[in-house]
Amino acid sequence: MPRSVINSIVHGDALAIASSLPQGRVALLYLDPPFFSGRRRSNRGKGPAYDDRWPGGLAEYLRFLRSLLEAGHPLLTPDGVIALHLDWRATHHGRLELERLLGPGGFVNEIIWSYRTGGGSKRMLARKHDSIHVFAAGKNYTFNRQTEKSYLAHRYGFTNIQIHEDEKGPYTLSAMRDVWEIPALRGNQREYVGYPTQKPLQLLERLIGCFSNEGDLVADLCCGSGTTLLAASRLKRHWVGVDSSAEAVSLARRRLSQPNQ
Ligand SMILES: C[S@@+](CC[C@H](N)C(=O)[O-])C[C@H]1O[C@@H](n2cnc3c(N)ncnc32)[C@H](O)[C@@H]1O
Repeated sequence: MPRSVINSIVHGDALAIASSLPQGRVALLYLDPPFFSGRRRSNRGKGPAYDDRWPGGLAEYLRFLRSLLEAGHPLLTPDGVIALHLDWRATHHGRLELERLLGPGGFVNEIIWSYRTGGGSKRMLARKHDSIHVFAAGKNYTFNRQTEKSYLAHRYGFTNIQIHEDEKGPYTLSAMRDVWEIPALRGNQREYVGYPTQKPLQLLERLIGCFSNEGDLVADLCCGSGTTLLAASRLKRHWVGVDSSAEAVSLARRRLSQPNQ
């Protein structure tokens, strides 16, 4: 791999830069683009920000999303995986775009990231989840099975299963589901660097652990504060990031220069 790009962050438009990244080498491509919120995203108008306004409406946004997926696709290994992170605004369009690109047979999972941030509406249920659509380019994609704790009301009457116990009570280990309850970042958390819509490391570590192996290359073409790249580095993957915001890139570079902080 060209050493100049691997384990580095490139500043610029992913649509223009993707073709200069290593083609056919990426095991996992995570994409967390703007969500079609119609807003300039910032933390109450302070600090770094990025634009999520689309004067041309949904048609303009979908042109961007399709171009991003098409630019990222050639980076994948023959069995590489794309994980596209969106919310209720455009998640349904995202899945259709992935089907168009990789075929309905490419579908692996729709991961629901469930969180509990403040706020809600009097007119509907509180919208507190994002979707991560996982599609594979080939049948032999990497999947590392994970387990999760499944708590039992009591420990009697079970045979042939191993029962563990922690402070919450008895539990078994069962195959991890596609609904992930992971707290959203709060301002007082150590990992929070003040980037708008910054994702938790725990979310990216779990995703990378599931769909790549040590030594693989993980790419993020809208890397923001570099969460994916930091998670990849901690899990001994190679990584490459792109972002069109100079502020994001310098923040991400700073984070990656101290990966154990
Ligand atoms: C949802 S944020 C990513 C947040 C990131 N996952 C994190 O944890 O910090 C979306 C990012 O996409 C970037 N972006 C928007 N359009 C882009 C483009 N054409 N090329 C590269 N990056 C872009 C924005 O600057 C922003 O940082």
